[in-house]
Amino acid sequence: MRHEITLKINGDLYELSVEPWKTLNQVLREELNLTGTKLGCGTGDCGACTVIVDGHTVVSCLTLAVEMDGKEILTVEGLAPSGQELHPIQQAFIEKGAIQCGFCTPGMELSALYLLKNNPRPSENEIREALSGNLCRCTGYTKIVEAIEAASKKRKTRTPKSKRSK
Ligand code: FES
Ligand code: FES
Repeated sequence: MRHEITLKINGDLYELSVEPWKTLNQVLREELNLTGTKLGCGTGDCGACTVIVDGHTVVSCLTLAVEMDGKEILTVEGLAPSGQELHPIQQAFIEKGAIQCGFCTPGMELSALYLLKNNPRPSENEIREALSGNLCRCTGYTKIVEAIEAASKKRKTRTPKSKRSK
């Protein structure tokens, strides 16, 4: 039996009919084509599927879509909603060379956003702790940590605004 749910994603309202076993990751990627959210391990270990739900990071691969009814979700697409101007965290990742294959990047950036909202000037150890649930196979983490330090110094960790409702 399908369930009717309403999600607010990156400021847009979506009314969906979903099977009870579908994960948030499946709905984002397969039904809404929001493929910025990645699917890596599918078991809650890599953090590639991280999104922000009502202000908290969650792994979308282990989250059932039906449990998200009425919630507000931010995906990486919502970091730069206009497509013109990158979020300062994204800009810092580019400037510091913190992206190689890019698979971990959306989850890393959303974990960074959550960190900087709650701790605007984190130490290196606090950044590493905040990223402990996000795995990267390419960069060795140093440049990612540097990027988040750089973003924190810019003090522009704005929360992306809603753009419109559907
Ligand atoms: S895909 Fe969700 S934690 Fe790895
Ligand atoms: S940049 Fe490739 S997994 Fe992190």
